[in-house]
Amino acid sequence: MKAVVLSDWGDASNFSVRDVPNPVIQPNEVLVQVKAFGVNPADYKTRSGTAPYAKQYTHPIILGWDMAGDVVAVGSSVTDFKQGDAVYGMVNFPNPGQAYAEYVAAPAADLALKPAKLTYTQAAAAPLAVLTAWQALTEHGHLQAGQTVLIQAASGGVGHLAVQLAKALGATVIGTASGKNEAFVRSLGVDEFFDYTTTDIGHTLNDIDLVFDTVGADTIFQSAEVLKPGGRLISIAYGAMDKVLAERPDISAERILVHTSGDDLRKINALIDAGKLRIEVSEVLPADLIADAHRQLESRRTTGKIVLHF
Ligand SMILES: NC(=O)c1ccc[n+]([C@@H]2O[C@H](COP(=O)([O-])OP(=O)(O)OC[C@H]3O[C@@H](n4cnc5c(N)ncnc54)[C@H](OP(=O)(O)O)[C@@H]3O)[C@@H](O)[C@H]2O)c1
Repeated sequence: MKAVVLSDWGDASNFSVRDVPNPVIQPNEVLVQVKAFGVNPADYKTRSGTAPYAKQYTHPIILGWDMAGDVVAVGSSVTDFKQGDAVYGMVNFPNPGQAYAEYVAAPAADLALKPAKLTYTQAAAAPLAVLTAWQALTEHGHLQAGQTVLIQAASGGVGHLAVQLAKALGATVIGTASGKNEAFVRSLGVDEFFDYTTTDIGHTLNDIDLVFDTVGADTIFQSAEVLKPGGRLISIAYGAMDKVLAERPDISAERILVHTSGDDLRKINALIDAGKLRIEVSEVLPADLIADAHRQLESRRTTGKIVLHF
């Protein structure tokens, strides 16, 4: 099969498309013929060697966790899927997922059936970002109907899905991005939008129940500032919560790491089937342009998601 192979730590020029052996499945896995695969900032952090989980990888590496495709073989202990099922999922995160390939061996527990409403491209865009948004808002943020949530970077891969999930959970949703993304973020259903390049949120908002910060050091102290006493701050991109809590000891603040879950994807599927979640794919590229996809993501200017295919 063909796969995108990374020869060394460093920049995106270390990728090449090569012929490699097909993966062999374990009893708990299915073999998926990949129709499309997605990219995430975690991919470039692993590629460069800066992600903490990159330490366990040895070159040559096939990166990639997000994919959608068709089941072509089923391991002996798998009961949830059969040959011919269209599936999607985040494979093996944060261990090597090897989804930048024509075939991937995926644990059945990481997968869900692809909702009929989604194309393979849309489904490949979703898993890591939507699981992150879902787990941040529900498992960690305990978001309740009627509460107000601020989503920092509402136009990004994670943020645009978090806006829609928060609306579906019955919250009032405030989103930030730069002005060029205002129409897009409003189209997702935010109740209020703020352009971070012209508005200081810290001096504009207060009494927020939950902030989901997907930006990091640039926004984290402002995110803490707008919370009401007892409010929750969930970050996916900033770790030094002791510094945040030194300034706001009256809130709770947590950095989380997404975990793979076919069960969570099935809950999310119900929202997709009900038309409550749209996956925005801003760019679709052939697999040999993987370096362009990484460079675009590293610019931190991506709207929605980037997807590739062989
Ligand atoms: N811990 C975890 O489990 C986990 C899981 C997923 C992601 N992450 C991390 O979370 C971060 C976001 O991931 P992602 O996939 O959503 O990234 P992304 O799609 O690349 O985010 C890009 C978006 O961020 C917006 N943005 C940039 N700076 C901003 C600011 N100061 N204020 C508001 N919006 C801003 C940009 O909007 P403009 O172009 O309008 O500026 C752009 O639309 C990454 O660092 C990623 O590694 C962590």
